[in-house]
Amino acid sequence: MAQQQGTEVGPLVHGPCLPPGWDSGVSPRPCLAEEQHVNVLINNAAVMRCPHWTTEDGFEMQLGVNHLGHFLLTNLLLDKLKASAPSRIINVSSLAHVAGHIDFDDLNWEKKKYDTKAAYCQSKLAVVLFTKELSRRLQGTGVTVNALHPGVARTELGRHTAMHSSAFSSFTLGPIFWLLVKSPQLAAQPSTYLAVAEELEGVSGKYFSGFKEKAPAPEAEDEEVARRLWAESARLVGLDASRGSSVDEQPLPK
Ligand SMILES: NC(=O)c1ccc[n+]([C@@H]2O[C@H](COP(=O)([O-])OP(=O)(O)OC[C@H]3O[C@@H](n4cnc5c(N)ncnc54)[C@H](OP(=O)(O)O)[C@@H]3O)[C@@H](O)[C@H]2O)c1
Repeated sequence: MAQQQGTEVGPLVHGPCLPPGWDSGVSPRPCLAEEQHVNVLINNAAVMRCPHWTTEDGFEMQLGVNHLGHFLLTNLLLDKLKASAPSRIINVSSLAHVAGHIDFDDLNWEKKKYDTKAAYCQSKLAVVLFTKELSRRLQGTGVTVNALHPGVARTELGRHTAMHSSAFSSFTLGPIFWLLVKSPQLAAQPSTYLAVAEELEGVSGKYFSGFKEKAPAPEAEDEEVARRLWAESARLVGLDASRGSSVDEQPLPK
């Protein structure tokens, strides 16, 4: 894509540019100011099925890291992504989103008993809904956004699951799992494909399983749920929801 345009691809933003919703508590604003062009943003980081932890900002950890952090970081970068167009945003979700449900009465797990699996599934459904709503908002800007399930890979994602914590499972199921799933390198390929494939130029608001476009879960296609989630996410992170790309400089809610 970049060679065709005769331009250089901008940096992949990750690591040090962590939004305040993440447990590092590092503000993204100073490092974001240094970047002049952002052509590709891959929102990849996640935590799965951790105990009932909260971020420094008081968000349930899986919602905070897997959705709200990416939501805020992406919005903080939107002006630069638009100025760098054509540019692409890739949101890494999971097949687990199909078991998710957005509970607007208790998005942050403050009322009901904590369920690590349901919290992960909700956060990954939120990623697909965010992708859909952002795509609608970005029409005509030259910035595309798609979500994907990378496939099951042998990474550290399962560190909080029983298979890792139980010696029996680790020794019996672990080797079988190891043989059946993808290497991290292979699992990274779909994200790279969505970031650079020429045939995906202009494709936006879609969900991919690996390299193939698929229909996401029915709740992920619900525009009303997506709009409501955007408004609620914006409220939680202190973003001006009506403008979509500028941030209210008020402190984040505790
Ligand atoms: N592995 C699978 O089978 C699978 C299946 C479906 C979807 N996915 C998705 O693929 C993506 C990559 O996961 P992975 O398998 O590579 O898992 P991983 O090995 O656990 O990597 C997760 C990454 O997220 C970062 N991260 C987690 N919590 C963070 C926080 N609070 N602040 C900043 N960074 C944080 C980690 O950084 P540190 O290393 O510094 O902690 C790490 O780089 C995730 O979105 C995951 O949901 C994976």
